[in-house]
Amino acid sequence: MMAGNWKMYKTPAETKAFFEAFKPLTESAANRDIVICPPFPNLHAAVSETEGTNIGVGAQNLYWGKEGAVTGEVSGHMLQAIGCQYVIIAHSERRQYFGENEADVVRKVKAALEYGLTPIVCVGERLEEREGGGTEAVLGEQFDGGIAPLTAEEFAKIVIAYEPVWAIGTGKTATPKMAADAHRFIRGKVSGKFGAEAGASTRILYGGSVKPDNVKNLMAEEEIDGALVGGASLDPASFAAVVNF
Ligand code: PGA
Repeated sequence: MMAGNWKMYKTPAETKAFFEAFKPLTESAANRDIVICPPFPNLHAAVSETEGTNIGVGAQNLYWGKEGAVTGEVSGHMLQAIGCQYVIIAHSERRQYFGENEADVVRKVKAALEYGLTPIVCVGERLEEREGGGTEAVLGEQFDGGIAPLTAEEFAKIVIAYEPVWAIGTGKTATPKMAADAHRFIRGKVSGKFGAEAGASTRILYGGSVKPDNVKNLMAEEEIDGALVGGASLDPASFAAVVNF
């Protein structure tokens, strides 16, 4: 799976222009799932531009519950109704700026699944945590609090994204080995909780400064099942180069 996280970039007109350029570049990429996650106001344009293609559309966040007095929020019900198939949950920017925690992850994953959306659940350590030797402790806490409470049936439908916070938007990528080590650790947690089969089949994406020139080496690691791409997903040629690595 190659997923693009546009963060707070692009208008609907820019979304349309992106897909006009991007679609011809990836129409033969049949053996992978391609996902674009634009900001909410562009979802409609993204869904109509990708109709009948091999590209799925996702949101970057959702609120649990179907509807209600929750000013400023968007529900899974609404995302499903507009034609979304995926939703990113607990991106590190949501954890950092909006205080999202593991309890939110559980609520949001359940809400996404209730409305037929595939959650892409983000985990990852900050720089000081890595430097202090705390990477596995942090990943373990995020797994135990946000993912382990799911039922096996729920877990089977999620995608995990390992995104070391220090590698996001910084141009510093984890080396393929660092990423693979973290993925192996997470996979071990999955096997411990949900069984070896779940551990082997769960998809774990790597995210953090993935670019056309480093994607091939990252994807060469058997542990890495795809990428969650920020900056390099904004340009059609560059994201197509990542998708078609
Ligand atoms: P980046 O962002 O590719 O710009 O580092 C990745 C992400 O935040 O998902």
